[in-house]
Amino acid sequence: MDGKLLELIERLEREHSLSVDEYEYLIVNKTDEAQALLAEKASAVSRRIYGNEIFLRGIVEFSNICKNDCYYCGIRRSNANLERYRLSPDEIFRCCEEGYELGLRTFVLQSGEDPYYTDDILADLVSKIHGRFPDCAITLSLGERSRESYQRLFDAGANRYLLRHETADKAHYEKLHPAEMSFDNRMHCLQVLREIGYDVGAGFMVGSPYQTTRTLAEDLKFLEDFKPEMCGIGPFIPHKDTPFRDVPAGTLDWTLYFLSIIRLIHPPVLLPATTALGTIDPRGREKGVEAGANVIMPNLSPTEVREQYKLYNDKICTGDESAQCRHCLDLRMSTIGYQIVTDRGDIRKEVI
Ligand code: 5AD
Ligand code: FES
Repeated sequence: MDGKLLELIERLEREHSLSVDEYEYLIVNKTDEAQALLAEKASAVSRRIYGNEIFLRGIVEFSNICKNDCYYCGIRRSNANLERYRLSPDEIFRCCEEGYELGLRTFVLQSGEDPYYTDDILADLVSKIHGRFPDCAITLSLGERSRESYQRLFDAGANRYLLRHETADKAHYEKLHPAEMSFDNRMHCLQVLREIGYDVGAGFMVGSPYQTTRTLAEDLKFLEDFKPEMCGIGPFIPHKDTPFRDVPAGTLDWTLYFLSIIRLIHPPVLLPATTALGTIDPRGREKGVEAGANVIMPNLSPTEVREQYKLYNDKICTGDESAQCRHCLDLRMSTIGYQIVTDRGDIRKEVI
């Protein structure tokens, strides 16, 4: 292997830090050998901290109505080819009950940016879930809201918040989003969430339109600086009803490469093998775990609405019963020597 590449990989493993130029070198000079070495080191780090345990997050996609118009996303407001739905708080609560029975101890409530769900409605729902399942973590993924809103939901019992930064490069951000959305506000929201005390999840798509080796290197430096508790990365997958319908999808190999690098940048990070990764390859999630991921996010949404929450085409697990998903995942993970556990799956910052 190229001596400089090897030196950078070893330094990353030791110091968890490189310069933006060095991250870019790692990206530009990717080889199969480097990928294999990174995966080996990353999965060893993950095993040292989390053993062979894989954490589950049950995700309830409770509304596909969105006021935003991100150019890449299938539920953007301009997509008229989509039947829109909203689940009631009772329906959402029942998804959590079903998830609890299946052994899930983290619920992720995710939706488009749907103004129907006011702070009153959401705070009531969060405190009801928190009251009924005090042993569970509640994760929100509702997009950009005000500080007051984030604070109220935290006070109601939410512990974690997922808000992908999408890209750490402002000019790139502006090519993925219409002018009414702002890179600065996205970064501000991440700061506010952290200040309030949430465990925060950032992340980006691999292979997104206009992404370059430079913007990716900036993403890595951002993750190194911000150290999010969670990091969601998956391949970009084009959706036929978006302006980026003809852009090729991100690849499995590049996604695995970044999973491994991110594990080495921030060893305790909770790193999902995402549904998008499982969508571009039938064994994508297993390969993600072997590259250093330690979280899987099965779908708890009612089966009738799963088809309608498609951020991208060909999304997997839209037809299964939730119980079947659990069984299927148990089996998939045990075949590669990992074990799905019934646990909140908190970050283990102290074990390094
Ligand atoms: N392909 C892959 N991921 C997507 N997301 C949105 N649209 C797509 C797509 N076409 C991701 C974004 C968003 C998260 C919820 O899903 O990164 O933050
Ligand atoms: Fe809904 Fe991007 S389209 S937040």
